[in-house]
Amino acid sequence: MNDKIICYCLNVSESTIVQAIKNGDNSLKDIQKSTKACTGNRCKELNPSGKCCSEDIMKILQRETGVKSESTCCCCH
Ligand code: FES
Repeated sequence: MNDKIICYCLNVSESTIVQAIKNGDNSLKDIQKSTKACTGNRCKELNPSGKCCSEDIMKILQRETGVKSESTCCCCH
């Protein structure tokens, strides 16, 4: 599988997030808790997209669960 880094602050890959969803995570909060993805605060510096990874995580969540959950950015608070 072509794995890629989703959260650059915490170095969490797509497969880790997909696995967490398979294990029952169904919200950004769950994923933050179980993978630590999206709990960093250096996104602008570390993420090549220049923003927080929460949007990418939400996309994966939606793709895997088919449910659109509301998006809250974790680190731009
Ligand atoms: S890129 Fe994920 S918390 Fe910064």
